[in-house]
Amino acid sequence: MNLIFMGPPGAGKGTQARQIAEKYSIPQLSTGDMLRAAVKAGSEVGLRAKAAMESGGLVTDDIVIGIIGDRIDEEDCKGGFILDGFPRTVAQAEALKGLLADRSMTIDHVIDITADNEALVARITGRSTCSKCGEGYHNQHKAPATAGICDKCGGALATRADDNEATVRNRLEVYDTQTAPVMDFYKNSGSFKSVDGMQSMDDVFKSLCNILG
Ligand code: AP5
Ligand code: MG
Repeated sequence: MNLIFMGPPGAGKGTQARQIAEKYSIPQLSTGDMLRAAVKAGSEVGLRAKAAMESGGLVTDDIVIGIIGDRIDEEDCKGGFILDGFPRTVAQAEALKGLLADRSMTIDHVIDITADNEALVARITGRSTCSKCGEGYHNQHKAPATAGICDKCGGALATRADDNEATVRNRLEVYDTQTAPVMDFYKNSGSFKSVDGMQSMDDVFKSLCNILG
């Protein structure tokens, strides 16, 4: 099963993709996570991506298309994958179409997770993530039992460099201008569905499972 999770920053793409990945035994391919790893490693891609990410702008299409093209050829993607945060421009959607056609692959579901802007800002500014296992937390909606420590693995929780209010507002604007048009690309394909991301995390998960079967 090949899936695309769309939605604005903080909608819950990563939270849900982690759970769906576990349930359906398919990998979560988050371009954001991959780019953060590249920045941390100081690789050439990381150096090229860093400034755009810190300002809340988009990294150039050629970088992310290259990353996804390589990643979907890996062995663990043979049984399917979840694209989390890709495609984010119409050019990326066009490129993905070509990448999939070359591999005789198709997308089964494109799922847009929706949420209100003010809720998104509150979610992002309250977020922390385990630096060891990647589990996500929120200081109100999903607080760890011990502050700063991951419930699952005991790792230290970290906040993202782009999770401050000013950058989030820019990310929301970038989403409206550059990513929202991608939905029109998929809306007539029959595989496009929308899920209310203002529900509780458990209810969003249930809605997704109802779609995926
Ligand atoms: P990326 O990492 O993809 O960030 P994003 O799209 O801004 O989305 P987030 O990861 O912030 O939100 P999410 O939807 O995953 O929410 P989460 O589940 O964590 O991209 C970062 C940057 O990388 C971009 O700005 C860009 O520079 C670059 N980039 C990445 N991909 C690119 C591409 N394709 N092209 C170009 N550039 C690219 O949830 C958020 C918080 O809310 C958490 O604390 C969570 O616990 C909480 N929460 C989740 N669901 C709920 C709920 N239902 N109720 C209450 N709280 C909830
Ligand atoms: Mg995410």
